[in-house]
Amino acid sequence: MRARIAGTGSCLPGLRVTNDDLGKILDTSDEWIRSRTGIGARHIAVEETAAGMSAEAAVQALKEADVKPEELDLIIAATLSPDHIVPPLSCEIQRDIGAVNAAAYDLCAACSGFIFALIAAQAYIQCGMYRKILITGTEILSKLLDWTDRSTCVLFGDGAGAAVICADEQGMLAGVQGSDGVKGSVLSCGGRPVQNPYANQMPPGQYVQMNGQEVYKFAVRTVPKCINEALAKAELQPEDISLYLLHQANQRIIDAVAKRLKQPADKFPVCLEECGNISAASVPVLLDRVNKDGKLKRGDKIVLAGFGAGLTWGAAVLVW
Ligand code: ACO
Repeated sequence: MRARIAGTGSCLPGLRVTNDDLGKILDTSDEWIRSRTGIGARHIAVEETAAGMSAEAAVQALKEADVKPEELDLIIAATLSPDHIVPPLSCEIQRDIGAVNAAAYDLCAACSGFIFALIAAQAYIQCGMYRKILITGTEILSKLLDWTDRSTCVLFGDGAGAAVICADEQGMLAGVQGSDGVKGSVLSCGGRPVQNPYANQMPPGQYVQMNGQEVYKFAVRTVPKCINEALAKAELQPEDISLYLLHQANQRIIDAVAKRLKQPADKFPVCLEECGNISAASVPVLLDRVNKDGKLKRGDKIVLAGFGAGLTWGAAVLVW
């Protein structure tokens, strides 16, 4: 059996912050941000929680899939910014949607998280362990940003996306994932400092820190390679794919990947203009938008791909 995406959903916070809005609190401009990244706005959580946004996205996905919450066997929540360290976000989603029969756990692979969750779902379904799985990608990155650092805070946003995965004859054809911990410092965000009666270490940088040029080089080299590996496993060529849904970090990265795959730009839909970079949420939010816009037809072959901190990367080839 294969993992088929049977329903999608998404939720963005109500507050929309444009580049011009940021220009009022930082030494930046719409021109600088838009020309280098393609980002025009981002949504920022004020009242919203990661659990609340995820549950809303999950309810939409369950409805489209015609699956009841109690039918779910498993929930995997991809996030690097849950509301709490414990309970896990996945358990809060389980509580909020009433998925009483599901096991639930969180997965952190940064911006690749949703792809890693999808590949895990495929493995569970392929081995016969589970049949109905909810995967979510959710971030409230605004709480991890240094809002005085214009080189990072303009890039990111908040939001959630979800997909219900069902065991089916048709679905995921191939998945590839990888990691390179040696290059972890290229994109990082420190945790809580060790403070106990025996140690009192200074906290590492507690906000997102990034070497943008190194991330750019990593992404444009690794993403096409990883997509080509996944296509080879699926015995497909780049031209067999109708849509490539990539992690929404930067328009220039997406353009470079399209060029390296020799595929037209219109096969690479984007939502970063409206959402910024939402890390693990960016692929499922984009997937839901494309789905709701009616751009996916059953039988279409699509690629989902993510890349990010870790470093991590992954690509999945699916029949819709
Ligand atoms: N507004 C105005 N000026 C700015 C801003 C800003 N928001 N941010 C930085 N600058 C200035 C810098 O201070 C610097 O000024 P200086 O020359 O006087 O010192 C100048 O702009 C250039 O700064 P760089 O950091 O070298 O900017 P760069 O041209 O590399 O662009 C960017 C930065 C857009 C992040 C680029 O490196 C990039 O595209 N990186 C790809 C990685 C990426 O998109 N990461 C996003 C998240 S990671 C992920 O999701 C995997």
